[in-house]
Amino acid sequence: MNTNTSFLLNGHAVDLAGADPTQSLLRWLKSRQQHGTKEGCGDGDCGACTVAMIETDAAGRSHYRAVNSCLLPMGALPGREIVTVEGLAEGERLHPAQQMMIDGAGSQCGYCTPGFVMSLFVGTHDGDLSDHCIEGNLCRCTGYRPIRDAAKRLAALPIIEDRFGATLQQPRTALSSARVGDFHNPTTVAEALALKQQHHDAIWIAGATDLGVNLSRGQTVAPSFIALDRIAELQRIEIGDDAARIGAGVSLSRIEHELAGQFPLLDDMLPWFAAKQIKNRATFGGSLGSASPIGDLAPILLALGGDVHLAGPNGLRDLPIDGYFLDYRKTQRHPDELIVAVTLPKPHDLVTASYKIAKRQTDDISIVAASYAIRLDGERRVQHVRLAYGGIAVIPKRAVSTEALLLGQVLGDALVERARAALVEEFTPLSDHRADAGYRRALAGNLFVKFVAEKLA
Ligand SMILES: Cc1cc2nc3c(=O)[nH]c(=O)nc-3n(C[C@H](O)[C@H](O)[C@H](O)COP(=O)(O)OP(=O)(O)OC[C@H]3O[C@@H](n4cnc5c(N)ncnc54)[C@H](O)[C@@H]3O)c2cc1C
Ligand code: FES
Ligand code: FES
Repeated sequence: MNTNTSFLLNGHAVDLAGADPTQSLLRWLKSRQQHGTKEGCGDGDCGACTVAMIETDAAGRSHYRAVNSCLLPMGALPGREIVTVEGLAEGERLHPAQQMMIDGAGSQCGYCTPGFVMSLFVGTHDGDLSDHCIEGNLCRCTGYRPIRDAAKRLAALPIIEDRFGATLQQPRTALSSARVGDFHNPTTVAEALALKQQHHDAIWIAGATDLGVNLSRGQTVAPSFIALDRIAELQRIEIGDDAARIGAGVSLSRIEHELAGQFPLLDDMLPWFAAKQIKNRATFGGSLGSASPIGDLAPILLALGGDVHLAGPNGLRDLPIDGYFLDYRKTQRHPDELIVAVTLPKPHDLVTASYKIAKRQTDDISIVAASYAIRLDGERRVQHVRLAYGGIAVIPKRAVSTEALLLGQVLGDALVERARAALVEEFTPLSDHRADAGYRRALAGNLFVKFVAEKLA
């Protein structure tokens, strides 16, 4: 493994020897007097710290991706290429993303501006200057209209052929294995598992959108880390006639894009799952790895009856998602196993939908997430039903009693009302700062009523 590591910052090699691998790129930039990149929340919520990172896909094409530098550990950087707001201008000539913000009066106090500029910069290269491009950036004073105007002006410019486009065209080899202190970056599953045998107290880290929050807050997370974000085996999506196998390390942005239209449950949920900067790094493996009771992806897997594929020192294991979650953040996965993929069965003739209820419509953690899959026969008799929830128990869960109540019955108003009432009674959620238990129970029932009204009327 390569210990003499470096990364490219605005085209210049930076040696990582001696760097604290758990320090965020944002804090490191500040320690190097690079103050252009701002810190707002330090939690991945505001986008003030946005930088661009180059990612190369399986076909060898390279792309800029907007990521939150507050969540990006230095240990994950060997071999990577980062562009910050300081790297955009050429001498006195501003990048069009900067110039359009000035021309459109898109900045007042300016604190959020570098983050917006970096998101717009990425948008000019990936061709998306819609609202999605800046959905992960908050501004407290300008108001969004001038900023959106700046994006529109940018989109109206002829294609920008600049040195950044030329950089993307350069051939790249896959990232190699590397280590920064106790932060290991293997490139194969076998290498990752071998490292885990040597470092029993190490933990897996993928996109770091969960763990990065703890690191950003200065919490001690683990003595060492084994990063999964440069393992090609975990980066594959295989789409068959009856199922899609999604590598545990595939980013949610890729899932949203590459599986669009094939899984309505994903199409319904992913637009409301965090913002672009988070989705560019967050993974399915990380969502199941954290086993959060309010994660938005587990209900989808439960509703479709998917599988989780694990690799460990004793080989591979395939587990059905039913029974995978055991207790609060406890699953059937042993600590020395890693999730390599999940399989999502195609819904085919099922009627499906996902719903997410949060305090804020966008970019917020769920109060309750629900994913439903149902099939009715010609007489509206329920032939198949799976009703899955997050936020209603210590684990993501199916409403098995209500499913039993529905199965074989004709779905009319009376049955829907009985199912609603049963769903309210089926779970014993906790009250917390997001919502009390009664509200969560009411949502469990009401979301089913909404599903029937919207999809099965
Ligand atoms: C601002 C913000 C908004 C968010 N919004 C949402 C949201 O709307 N909905 C939602 O559900 N979540 C949300 N999250 C949480 C987070 O983004 C997701 O849980 C994400 O899927 C985690 O993936 P990751 O790759 O970043 O995980 P990491 O942070 O890298 O890891 C998370 C956990 O999983 C383990 N792990 C990672 N990969 C594997 C693997 N392959 N095998 C075994 N264990 C593994 C790690 O050890 C760790 O315990 C949000 C987070 C932030 C910061
Ligand atoms: S500082 Fe707010 S997202 Fe990073
Ligand atoms: S210009 Fe002040 S926060 Fe956006």
